[in-house]
Amino acid sequence: MKILGIETSCDDTSVALFDSERAAAENLISSQVDLHEQFGGVVPELASRAHLVNLLPLVDHLLRRQGLAPADLDGVAVTSGPGLIGALLVGLSTAKALARAADLPLVGVHHLEGHILANALSAELVLPAVVLVVSGGHTELILMREVGRYERLGGTLDDAAGEAFDKSAKLLGLPYPGGPHIDRLAASGDPARFVLPRPLARDPRLVFSFSGLKTAVKIEAEALPRPLRDQDVCDLSRGVQDAIVDILVQRLFQAARRTRVRAVYLAGGVAANGGLRAAVAAEADRRGLHFIPPARVYCTDNAAMIARAGWEHLRLGRRDGLGLDSFARGDLTSWR
Ligand code: KG4
Ligand code: ZN
Repeated sequence: MKILGIETSCDDTSVALFDSERAAAENLISSQVDLHEQFGGVVPELASRAHLVNLLPLVDHLLRRQGLAPADLDGVAVTSGPGLIGALLVGLSTAKALARAADLPLVGVHHLEGHILANALSAELVLPAVVLVVSGGHTELILMREVGRYERLGGTLDDAAGEAFDKSAKLLGLPYPGGPHIDRLAASGDPARFVLPRPLARDPRLVFSFSGLKTAVKIEAEALPRPLRDQDVCDLSRGVQDAIVDILVQRLFQAARRTRVRAVYLAGGVAANGGLRAAVAAEADRRGLHFIPPARVYCTDNAAMIARAGWEHLRLGRRDGLGLDSFARGDLTSWR
């Protein structure tokens, strides 16, 4: 099957083709980072307008590169939520129009299921598994017994892990989104200089809290001489990253132990973080659990993961009608 994927839930316009026979995807992204950077965050209306301008030309470009016409496709998969409503609507309307015009089945995909199944783009899944979904909007532990069956084990009580990276980065004067900058600078930072709090570390529940971290970073940053020296920024970046990674890893393996799964996975933008990938790999190895990190390009928002997830639905005959709606918020629920 050849599935066209469309992802417009936030600030990346992305289209992809997943070919199940070749188990391969081609993914195109038109990033809006430059557009939103000057505002220090995503401006929803600007995001919608940029999707509107960029999406169809990107679809055309992808199909031309693949030598395909819409009628050669076997289905269209589109992110239906959660995300920015205006941004989602651009993707949904385009997906519906394409499906209608070429008489193709249409399926709406939950953004988190897309992130989770990004892991299936790099290697065959080992199940059951606990997946730690860590992005700009989510920090969730999800038990996946099989594709399509999801159980939420826990999550954040306040900020998402990506938000914690981004807010800390802002305090250090780094550009938006700050996660990748912290990741890069932390590599040259001193791990012993700033040891930041690990909130809820002793809480038996599978919960996270990151809102206190930015206050701790603010206090440390304000005590430093201005303008900030490069080494100070590296050291504090290291402190931030280690604090976030520590608590994420602790909870992920607590969840794995309680559910007796065979594998652990990472998903979402923060899964690209070098410190997190290394720490999870080391701990999985120590505990004899299977772990392969997702390809970095498929950690942040992309349409390949949506096309891959859509294929799972379509091959089992699940599809949506042209009345498919979008949603701003909503847990990932089982569909199987
Ligand atoms: O999954 P994603 O692209 O969008 C959402 O669905 O939210 O995740 C974006 C988030 C941002 O907060 C960004 O700073 C973070 O992922 N991120 C990283 C890294 N790359 C992206 N955080 C830490 N280290 C990275 N290398
Ligand atoms: Zn995402």
